[in-house]
Amino acid sequence: MSELESIESEALGAVQAAADLAALDAVRVAELGKKGRISAFMKTLGKMTPEERQVAGPLLNALKTRVADAVAARKTVLEDAALDAQLATEYEDLTLPPPPEPVGALHPVMQVFEEMAAIFGTMGFAVAEGPDIEDDWHNFTALNFPEGHPARETHDTFFMNNPEGGAPKVLRTHTSPVQIRTMMEQKPPIRIIAPGRVYRNDWDATHTPMFHQVEGLVIEKGIHMGHLKGCLIDFVKAFFEVDTVEARFRPHFFPFTEPSAEMDVKYTKKGDSIQIGQGDSWMEILGSGMVHPNVLRNCGIDPDEYQGFAFGMGVDRLAMLKYGMPDLRPYFEADPEWTRHYGFAPWLTPTVSGGLS
Ligand code: PHE
Repeated sequence: MSELESIESEALGAVQAAADLAALDAVRVAELGKKGRISAFMKTLGKMTPEERQVAGPLLNALKTRVADAVAARKTVLEDAALDAQLATEYEDLTLPPPPEPVGALHPVMQVFEEMAAIFGTMGFAVAEGPDIEDDWHNFTALNFPEGHPARETHDTFFMNNPEGGAPKVLRTHTSPVQIRTMMEQKPPIRIIAPGRVYRNDWDATHTPMFHQVEGLVIEKGIHMGHLKGCLIDFVKAFFEVDTVEARFRPHFFPFTEPSAEMDVKYTKKGDSIQIGQGDSWMEILGSGMVHPNVLRNCGIDPDEYQGFAFGMGVDRLAMLKYGMPDLRPYFEADPEWTRHYGFAPWLTPTVSGGLS
């Protein structure tokens, strides 16, 4: 191999091996710079004879051009790579973050059901349930509503069609039929609450055709009105999270309790909000009474051996009072904005010791 050929292959090899622009420039200076190897050869042309120069000149020039072209080509490759590397480090992620996962909220009525189950749970009550579509016997007759008694009319009952004839079924007008179902299935002692939906043909600013009640029933030996009062006052204190509750039990009538009483509690109105417990006005919050002996007998329980008390309360209004919701109607409109505002995190199960709300 001639000297020129070995210079060329060395120079081209060095160009290809240059890993970055600085290394490539060093190769360029070493070969083509003023003091470079190929430039030094060019200077020898001056000392040659014209004949020698005619041969060596074009060879040297061609060599110089090929090395210069190789340097330029390698330079483009290295510059592209350098730009790619820079762009990779300067990369900005302009994609939008994913939208938040939709989160549901517990309806305030469901929250209050849970709170009540927690409070009565600490008093030894279990939760019982019954069907929304009830028969006349459980909703009325067994509860000591005599046939044709005017009390049946006061409930504005929704009657179901009964194509087979016979007594039509009803949408239960209260949760009290769960008292009957429980006493038919369980032996005393009994302590249950029964949360659920109830239906009456009523529709105005403060009444909706479907609403919610929680029923309570205690059947034990030696139960009297004092137990009823103590239990319900304790409940109201725990539910409204206050230390003092002034209450009164005002005589009333329900066919299934005797005596019967409505429970009123004192309250104070502060601006738009209402504080339960003390104050100068009374508010009715529930119906209650000692279970009527006829009801016990209808369920096969001897009233001379067992006594009990029962109560029933409207949950929608208690939730309004506790959580300062001014209007009943949005309860049933399923507006997600309202639910987000007034709803509760579904995983925060209320407990009496850990906090109800
Ligand atoms: N069931 C009654 C009502 O709906 C409430 C009640 C329940 C009263 C239990 C006394 C005892 O109005």
